[in-house]
Amino acid sequence: MATAAAISSLLLLLLPSLFIPICGLPDAKTEAQFAKRAHMKLKQKVSHLHFYFHDVVSGRNATAVRVTDPVTDSPSAFGMITMMDDLLTLGPEPTSRPVGRAQGMYASASQQELGFLMAMNLVFTEGKYNGSVLTVLGRNPPFHQVREMPVVGGSGLFRFARGFAQAQTHWLDMKSGDAVVEYSVYAMHY
Ligand SMILES: *[C@@H]1O[C@H](CO)[C@@H](O)[C@H](O)[C@H]1NC(C)=O
Ligand SMILES: *[C@@H]1O[C@H](CO)[C@@H](O)[C@H](O)[C@H]1NC(C)=O
Repeated sequence: MATAAAISSLLLLLLPSLFIPICGLPDAKTEAQFAKRAHMKLKQKVSHLHFYFHDVVSGRNATAVRVTDPVTDSPSAFGMITMMDDLLTLGPEPTSRPVGRAQGMYASASQQELGFLMAMNLVFTEGKYNGSVLTVLGRNPPFHQVREMPVVGGSGLFRFARGFAQAQTHWLDMKSGDAVVEYSVYAMHY
């Protein structure tokens, strides 16, 4: 008992000194040095990106290809995985100005309703964003009005990115499965 009390009071004495380097006021000089080394700016920014995603699964110019079949008799296509390299454009028409590609996959991960696990890199090719990437990982039930997926990271202009993407179907051909999806992405980054 006495020993335990002695140890805990010793810890109480020691703890503040242990935490000072971590919890103390940020050292502006160190932070600036780190920022310089990491080639990043100190100020956090929020970017809003708006574009259309063209998921072409049919025809000779398909940009999304099914790589696994769903399990038999699944009403939600459970088990189906599709790889994509889908075009991103400024406007809803496929001939609209290209701004990048959505590269990754969507996998049918729900047994109840159509619900995709989306794992994709939004690879931007336009203007100052050219070469920068945002990584999205989240749940996308395509028949819901608005789907929200987390932005979990990024590179280039989007280093340290965090945020979310909202997707809304703009157009869907139920026969072929081709779709145009409107994306609105908010990302905080340095
Ligand atoms: C595929 O793309 C080419 C070139 O853009 C186009 O001429 C052709 O009509 C497209 N084919 C289909 C089936 O959409
Ligand atoms: C984007 O960058 C690549 C590689 O640096 C370059 O080839 C391409 O022309 C650039 N595209 C635009 C639209 O600036």
